[in-house]
Amino acid sequence: MDDAIKRNDLSHVVAADRAHVWHHLSQHKQYEKIDPRVIVEGKGLRVWDATGRETLDAVSGGVWTVNVGYGRESIANAVRDQLLKLNFFAGAAGTVPGALFAQALTEKMPGMSRVYYSNSGSEANEKAYKMVRQIAHRRHGGQKWKILYRERDYHGTTIAALASGGQEERKMQYGPFPEGFVPVPHCLEYRSQWGEVSDYGLRAANAIEEVIEREGPDTVGAIILEPVTAGGGVIPPPEGYWPRVQEICRKHDILLIIDEVVCGLGRTGTWFGYQNYDIEPDIVTMAKGVASGYAAISCTVTTERVFEMFKDDAEDHLSYFRDISTFGGCTAGPAAALENMRIIEDEGLLDNCLKMGDRLMGNLHALMEKHAVIGDVRGKGLFCGAELVADRATKEPLPEKQVAAVVAAAMARGVQIGMTNRSVPGLNNTLTLSPALVVTADEIDRITDAIDGALTEVCGT
Ligand SMILES: Cc1ncc(COP(=O)(O)O)c(C=O)c1O
Repeated sequence: MDDAIKRNDLSHVVAADRAHVWHHLSQHKQYEKIDPRVIVEGKGLRVWDATGRETLDAVSGGVWTVNVGYGRESIANAVRDQLLKLNFFAGAAGTVPGALFAQALTEKMPGMSRVYYSNSGSEANEKAYKMVRQIAHRRHGGQKWKILYRERDYHGTTIAALASGGQEERKMQYGPFPEGFVPVPHCLEYRSQWGEVSDYGLRAANAIEEVIEREGPDTVGAIILEPVTAGGGVIPPPEGYWPRVQEICRKHDILLIIDEVVCGLGRTGTWFGYQNYDIEPDIVTMAKGVASGYAAISCTVTTERVFEMFKDDAEDHLSYFRDISTFGGCTAGPAAALENMRIIEDEGLLDNCLKMGDRLMGNLHALMEKHAVIGDVRGKGLFCGAELVADRATKEPLPEKQVAAVVAAAMARGVQIGMTNRSVPGLNNTLTLSPALVVTADEIDRITDAIDGALTEVCGT
């Protein structure tokens, strides 16, 4: 395949890209000297760029998305067939794949029953916020309009989603932000705010209640949390955290919004991340892995209780959810999502995720024995992080430039890994790994071998 790419001279494509594409999250000064990377083809976990170079992608398209791997003909066929039948109709009406995917999805989510379609994770979260605000107006006399979010979590790139983002570097220079989004402390035990304690999870959850009490429980309508924080450092919840969070939400009548944009579907070895922790959410948002990037789709899924609050007064012309997302009516999304779900199920990918996740974690722990620069290894399923430190005792973070050099050195070994970036100032020091759920044992070993070599090259042993 790389030979075919080499045979096709793609220099005009690279030139067009360099001249006209404004890349995401990129400082473009570098492209005055070097070419931007243009990805041409993918199969399984492998991708080829415009120069014909092959890379093993350990981050599912860079941002934990391509969960079933590249080159899935059956998804392409499902989308093609659906597009020829009906490509779009505005979401005030139903479509065949929209209805069938909503049914299939909610079957995987006991307690949840309604699916609202849009196009991106940010948008799915915006919908959730609008629901909370409207509930506040209709049920709580305009009170309970505040939405809590957690330090280090990320919920998207639009202005309101950024307002609810716990990664200061993403927010800088984009304010002022809308009111009513209030931070609660992070739950990363490795960087405990209370020193070494035996009940860290409980303390981190109780810290949420302190914020609620400070703000006034009757002003707080919802809290949004990632089940496992992704870009903020790959942070699985500490022991005892979730049961207490759930208890606090119930006590203060606060809606629990779970952001599954990274964990859904399958990334942690269960359909959804929250299902690892016995959580009963009110609203669940999802995007990336819903159709593995074969089509744009996001969903805001609610309980029937939340849904009912928007239909109880048919005489009031303001009482229903007056929201629309034009491309939420594209049928390619749910058509791709249905086939994506079938693949996960029929190929036993949740099981593979758990097995390969164990292997990945085991390999990372072995690397930790060898490389003092690894301060902590964390993760769930095929969603792992290794936090790099200049000094294990003080936990001083490895400078971001050196972490980036490790990523570059892995790339030079043919493996693309990720790192937290432009998130928490001074703490962009965690390597991130999220290979497709079809990853094999050999590929896992290739990924960790590349990290081993990269750490030796950049940091010494
Ligand atoms: C946890 C989480 N929520 C929301 C988003 C936003 O999704 P999108 O980029 O599709 O708007 C992201 C994106 O990385 C994410 O990681």
